[in-house]
Amino acid sequence: MRKTTINLIIIIAVLCIFGCNKKENDQKTQSQHMDNIKVSNYGVTAKGDSIKKYTLTNKNGMKVEVINFGGIITSLTAPDRNGKYEDVVLGFTKPEGYFNGNPYYFGALIGRYGNRIANAKFTLEGKTYEIDKNDKPNSLHGGKEGFYTKFWNIEPVKDANFPTLKLTYTSADGEEGYPGKLFTTVLYTLTDDNSLEISYEATTDKSTVINLTQHSYFNLSGNFTKAVTDHELQINADKFLPVNETLIPTGEQKEVKGSPFDFTVSKPIGKDINSDDDQLKKGKGYDHNWILNGNGMRSIAKVYHPGSGRIMEVLTDEPGVQFYSGNFLDGKFDTKTGGKNEFRTGFCLETQHFPDSPNQSSFPSTELKPGQKYQTKTIYKFSVKK
Ligand code: BGC
Repeated sequence: MRKTTINLIIIIAVLCIFGCNKKENDQKTQSQHMDNIKVSNYGVTAKGDSIKKYTLTNKNGMKVEVINFGGIITSLTAPDRNGKYEDVVLGFTKPEGYFNGNPYYFGALIGRYGNRIANAKFTLEGKTYEIDKNDKPNSLHGGKEGFYTKFWNIEPVKDANFPTLKLTYTSADGEEGYPGKLFTTVLYTLTDDNSLEISYEATTDKSTVINLTQHSYFNLSGNFTKAVTDHELQINADKFLPVNETLIPTGEQKEVKGSPFDFTVSKPIGKDINSDDDQLKKGKGYDHNWILNGNGMRSIAKVYHPGSGRIMEVLTDEPGVQFYSGNFLDGKFDTKTGGKNEFRTGFCLETQHFPDSPNQSSFPSTELKPGQKYQTKTIYKFSVKK
């Protein structure tokens, strides 16, 4: 045999062995990821659905707990500067808190439309749709039987690189007044760099509107009785959307510069929250949508808690984020760390399209037509500052 042929055979043999090993290793990692998802019984709803809890764990010991009711994140741990993992998301102490209304939308998947739609109606392709009016004249977070009240099918994903849950829900044509049968898939992935990645997909059989989001409330101190006003927040947005008395955007896109809404440079959430400002009065604090700079997947916000050293960075491909400073938390429920869920003890950064887009033609469209695929992704990444 000629020397070049022998060399070729050797190279192919080495590649084969390497390839087989890689496949074996990949399979091993994948099955390890399946080991990093534990399923347990969580509770039974009034309708008799038996609800399971799925616990994802990454190689650092970070944990995320998700239930198949509302796709709700009931717990998420993150390390402080001493490496101590603590729960940093608000939630109820008992399953019934979630099953009986979840008035704050704690931890939930929100659909079909995150945020408000004015007067609970919109017109699409010449037809007017009336949707559930659950927030004075408006519709909020998909209506009172929105996705956060639904039973989601959950499957651990076998061939994923990190522990991943696939959640699916099919919303019937006309549910809560929205047109089209909507097929929704959400992936929750916990990566080894302490990120929770959330990928949303949906298709419809009739033209409709859609704006999915996640409604976790964070308190990076790990103590849910403490106000989040000491957390330092930065949002990459030069403009925000002022609102009317019922928190519907007026249509104006206002510069944040020189106002309490300027988070372009990191500052404590509490620094300007009590300023004499008409918009802050309307929201009882921050409860507004910021128009994010740039587009595509990008870092849009960072929160730092000086006491613990915890940092949360948010990345998304969405055009907006609702920064809500927990102004409607009212001390009616116990927190997971004792005491009550008082005013401003949690904040949300809900990535999304702008509120009321179906009624505001100058906003990026939230329409979804048959044959199109709705796709969006958000990442909450946790780290520390020493
Ligand atoms: C809204 C708040 C609302 C809260 C419900 C947020 O997304 O912006 O106005 O009260 O959800 O918990």
